[in-house]
Amino acid sequence: MSSLFWLEGRIALVTGASRGLGFAIAEALAAHGAHVVLNSRNDHLLREATEKLTGMGYHAEALPFDVTDADAAVDAIERIREVHGRLDILVNNAGIQLRKPLLEWTDAEFEKVLSANLVACFRLAREAARLMLEQGSGRIINVGSVTGFLARGSIHAYVAAKTGLHGLTRSLAAELGPEGVLVNGIAPGFFATDMNKALLENAEFTDWVQKRTPLGRWGANHELGGAAVYLASDAASYVNGHILVVDGGLGATM
Ligand SMILES: NC(=O)c1ccc[n+]([C@@H]2O[C@H](COP(=O)([O-])OP(=O)(O)OC[C@H]3O[C@@H](n4cnc5c(N)ncnc54)[C@H](OP(=O)(O)O)[C@@H]3O)[C@@H](O)[C@H]2O)c1
Repeated sequence: MSSLFWLEGRIALVTGASRGLGFAIAEALAAHGAHVVLNSRNDHLLREATEKLTGMGYHAEALPFDVTDADAAVDAIERIREVHGRLDILVNNAGIQLRKPLLEWTDAEFEKVLSANLVACFRLAREAARLMLEQGSGRIINVGSVTGFLARGSIHAYVAAKTGLHGLTRSLAAELGPEGVLVNGIAPGFFATDMNKALLENAEFTDWVQKRTPLGRWGANHELGGAAVYLASDAASYVNGHILVVDGGLGATM
């Protein structure tokens, strides 16, 4: 394998890695030699996911915590420092969705979605940066969304959070880049995960996604892994503040 994409010796934390896109990212990083620390809230599912990777001969461990719990997030990074002495890659992937008409949204619901999809990413990036700045190297990858560019109704907090996350990616890139810590984002289009269960079960919506996306289908989870490997690797050594769109061409067309 080309050494440009080889991640052996790198310690990576992937949040929301028990399933969906986070697991696909964790698997891809591990397959390229990284030691991956998988996170999510459900301890049981997380351990199963981690065992899948170790069963394939990869280096992986579970670190369950809620990314919206400020103390737990700080402790998690501190634990990685204690155990591994470093953190090379942070993938802020954990996220939640809520769909309802504007007039039904409460303030608390809006804040909850923002807390998981934006505030938690800021906090983990800040804590990871403490280690990465000491090392003089690191990669932070924020999983944004095409909804950071293109809005839909009913997912107001999600669109606000993902648009904010793309902006945060750029401000972090501006401050941390000169110190050797590169910060980029990935903006997935429509992928067939639990988050989209209701949409996948809706024939009309699925038909719309297929027609609207030039590749004519939903993305498969493994199709996101390569983008994370690239942004984490030496191949992306001059890429900073970029949002890599992985959407089958949806955002490029009308
Ligand atoms: N699927 C898509 O089409 C799509 C498109 C654009 C962007 N994205 C983004 O991609 C990321 C992953 O989405 P997905 O579709 O894979 O979602 P998913 O299938 O619902 O998985 C979400 C993951 O995040 C974890 N999680 C949720 N809240 C958490 C918290 N507070 N603390 C720790 N872990 C938490 C979940 O595990 P627990 O519930 O056990 O904690 C799970 O592992 C999200 O940021 C999402 O916004 C997805």
